[in-house]
This record gives sequence, C-alpha cells and structure tokens, in this order.
Amino acid sequence: MTQALSKHAVVAVIGAGAMGAGIAQVAAFGGHPVKLLDNRSGAAAQAIEGIRAQFEKMAARGKISPETATAAGARLQAVAQLVDLFDAALVVEAIVENLQVKQTLFKALEAVVSEGCILASNTSSISITAIGAALTDPQRLAGLHFFNPAPLMALVEVVSGLATAPEVASTLYDTALAWGKTPVHARSTPGFIVNRVARPYYAEALRVLTEGGADCATLDACCREAGAFRMGPFELMDMIGHDVNFAVTSSVWRAFFNDPRFLPSLIQQDLMDAGFLGKKSSRGFYNYQEGASKPQPVTVPALARPHDIVLYGQSAAAQALALRLQANGVGFTRTQAMGTTTLATAGAASLRITDGRTATRCAFDSQTPNTVLVDLALDYQTATRLAVSVAAQCDDTAANCAIGLLQAAGFAVSQLQDIPGLIVMRTVAMLANEAADAVNQGVCDATAVDTAMRLGVNYPCGPLAWANSIGLAQVSTVLGHLAQTYGEDRYRTSPLIQHHVFAAKDFS
Ligand code: NAI
Repeated sequence: MTQALSKHAVVAVIGAGAMGAGIAQVAAFGGHPVKLLDNRSGAAAQAIEGIRAQFEKMAARGKISPETATAAGARLQAVAQLVDLFDAALVVEAIVENLQVKQTLFKALEAVVSEGCILASNTSSISITAIGAALTDPQRLAGLHFFNPAPLMALVEVVSGLATAPEVASTLYDTALAWGKTPVHARSTPGFIVNRVARPYYAEALRVLTEGGADCATLDACCREAGAFRMGPFELMDMIGHDVNFAVTSSVWRAFFNDPRFLPSLIQQDLMDAGFLGKKSSRGFYNYQEGASKPQPVTVPALARPHDIVLYGQSAAAQALALRLQANGVGFTRTQAMGTTTLATAGAASLRITDGRTATRCAFDSQTPNTVLVDLALDYQTATRLAVSVAAQCDDTAANCAIGLLQAAGFAVSQLQDIPGLIVMRTVAMLANEAADAVNQGVCDATAVDTAMRLGVNYPCGPLAWANSIGLAQVSTVLGHLAQTYGEDRYRTSPLIQHHVFAAKDFS
C-alpha cells in the first residue's frame, strides 16, 4: 500500500537556490501546497516567479494545460519565517552544505512543526546520521537527494541514517514516486550511491592521463564513441567545475578514511591551484575562451585493408566484427577455435580484447610478439571508435594490419600508449567494482545502483548490468591484472564479484 503524502499535505522547502527552487517546483506540480523559505530577503518570492514562468512555458509548449499551469503556480507561497512552516507535513532542506548550519536549522524546526512532520535534507555529501544526531527525534529525518536540475532529473536518492525510521523512508520513497520521480533507497554512507559509484569515471581517466596514455580529447572520444557515455570524463569534469568535482572526490576519500579507491588526482589539484575550474572560468582541461578551438581526438590515418582476416569464436565483439566487415564488403574467415582469447588475426597480428594487462605483457605471457589489444565497447556493432594498444614487441607491419582490420570494419581507431586496461575497460571494471562494493556493504541493492547510475549521471547502462554482459570472470580478471600492475589496494576486487564468479552467478 502506498504511503505517499496526501496531495493536501503542505510541503515546505527551505533554501530557494538552484535545488530548493527545483524541488518546490516538483512538489507544487505534484499537487501539494508548497511553502518556500529563504533567509535572503526576496529570494523565495523571486524563485516562485521563476517557477511560475516555467509552468507557463510548459503550457505554451502544449506540455500541460494553461489551467494546470495556473493551478500549480498558485500552490506556491513564499514565507518569511520558520514559524510559518508550522503546518508542514514534510520539510525539505536545501540550504548551504554545512553540517552545523543544517543541524541548527533542523533543531529549530523541531520546535515549530508537528510531531508527525517528516524532515528531509537534500544534502549531497553530509551524513544523514550526523545531521540527525542534533535532533530530539532523529527517526523522522532522512535524506531526499535530488539531482540538478530537479524538475528534469528523474532520480531521487532516499537516504536513511542510522536512526531513520523505515516508515519515514518509505513515505519519502512513495511520495517521490507520486511526484513522477524514480526513487532509490540508500543507506547514509559517503557519497550515497551516485557520488560514490561515479568516482572511477573521473579517477581512471585522470590516472590514464597522468601516465600519458593519451590526451583528453582522445580519451573523451573513446568514452563517448566506444563506451556510449554521453560525455567524456574530461569534458564532464570541466562542465561540473573542478572546484565542485575535486571537493566531492576529496570528501568521499576522507570520509572513507583515505581509502586509495577514492584517491584524488594531482592533476585536479593543479587545475584548482591554477584557477582553471572548467567552463565557468573558461579554462579547464579544455580552453573555452573565445576563438579557442576544441582539440580533436587523435585517430590513426586510414591504412591498407588486410587480406587474411580470421575471426575467432562467437564473442559479441567477434560477431559484431563479422557483421561490420560483411557490410563493408571485406572478406574474412571464421574459426570456432575453443579456449582461445584471440579475437582476430590479420597478417601476422593477433588482436584480443584487453584483460587488464598491457599489450607488452600479453605478448610476453603468450609468446605472441605481434599482439594488439582492443578496448571494450558497450556495443561493438554500433561503436564508432575503438582504442587499441600495441605491444612493444609488435612489428609495424603487424600493427598496421590489426588497425587496418578495425578500420575496414568502420571504426575510427585511437592508438593509446600501452596502458593496462586501456580506457573504457578499466573504467567500466572499476565502476562495476564500486557498484558491487556498495551492494556488498548494504548501501543499496543491485537494481538501485544500476538505476541510480543510469538516471543520476546518464550512464548508458547500469555498471552491474554492464559487468554481467562483459562476464564477471572477465571483469574480475581485469581488476586482478590492474591490481598486479599497480600493486595498489585501489584495484582490489569486490568480495561480491569474487563470490559471484565462484558461484557462477551474476547480478541479474
Ligand atoms: P544555492 O547556493 O543555489 O542555494 C542555497 C540557498 O539557501 C540560498 O538561496 C541561500 O540564501 C539559502 N540559505 C542558506 N542558508 C539558509 C538558512 N539557514 N535558512 C534559509 N535559507 C538559507 O545552493 P544549491 O546548489 O541549491 O544547494 C543546496 C543544497 O543542495 C546543498 O546542501 C547542496 O549540497 C545540495 N545539492 C546541490 C546540488 C547541485 O547540483 N547544486 C545537487 C544536489 C544537492
């Protein structure tokens, strides 16, 4: 049975900034009388004007009727003092991100609202347990974490602190659902779900950049065109702002007692020190000043088509290569050879999908000098670019045959330095590893983590579903090889992935 708040229940929002205004809009559109309070004089009234203008715009575009727009707008009321919130059934706080300030506000609220009123914080990084510690009744406090812009982003993390009553979390969950959102339950732990599980998207790219694997534009292009991520990690960090992104990374790292999984990068520290904060300061990884041109990814120029292409096995990559070569009228043969990790051969070259070793080590281990490694793609049939790395032992003719094969199949090819796990594979393996740890540590369930990452940061696929499709054994191998190469605890494999590999299970 749904426990959503009745539409007659008054929802109060405190803080009329970017998030508070958005949340007030969502609640008013959801049918509730909404009271908006901000300690900056005139800010709440101004925000309400902006929200009404949004409703009118929606009506003008035919998305809602003019009557609906007027009614939703009329449900919003700016109030000046905390005591005006006496009749609220739910108060959502979206003020400054500071524990003491939030605690003081909630303590004061307890004296104003009724006993049954639910208190919620939109904090993105402060522990709900810690905020609740200041309250007489911490059971009624939970996190209600919207994403920016709140009216457009579907995801809401409903965050339970140590003392949060399960009914409070359920009511918030059902209410968010009634507002047209997609809520997920999370336990209050650093970064909750999205801000924790997303860290490797930035961290692995920064690591590859630090090690000279490729430049930003090339790595971004590989993540977009092979990984199907909407934005590459560097352009995304520039958009978020390095002050914000670095602060989140550092706070998650500190909150996990300096777990190397979350170690911030010196590159970001440098950008901060230089004041290159990203788009907002016209300079970040990229230059946004007027007249500056965006650097293009490095792509290997067209090479000759190899004649003697052999595709091995039935993997998704092999199947896609077969279809793509066929579509381009390129001849090849197939072999069902069992037990090989070879994807294809062309001339003297042997191509395989990266397993987290460098190409040079693969060549050494397999006694196959002419080894070329291919990066992960979400879908090898639709990907437009692939990253490759070439073993130090590989001769140029063989490398050209391998790259020529991929080009003949219609891929733009970016050759990275011989970095273990290339870029998409190591990133996705680490995203899945973090997602698995969040599940293993009881932060959320497997469905929630995938939903959160698809809707909160627009990933093309949930990390656990993606890991399923790669194969958990392969993900575990990649992580194991990264751990061996770096000798760092950062790449330790989640116990849940290990368990699932041994149990021949996956996350579905
Ligand atoms: P903002 O700076 O745009 O707005 C904060 C508003 O709160 C301001 O209008 C300020 O005057 C008001 N305020 C500050 N202290 C107050 C108090 N004691 N009483 C009443 N009003 C007060 O900030 P933004 O971006 O809207 O963030 C608000 C909260 O939401 C923070 O906790 C933040 O971490 C969280 N958040 C922010 C996201 C974002 O992308 N901006 C995303 C998700 C959560």
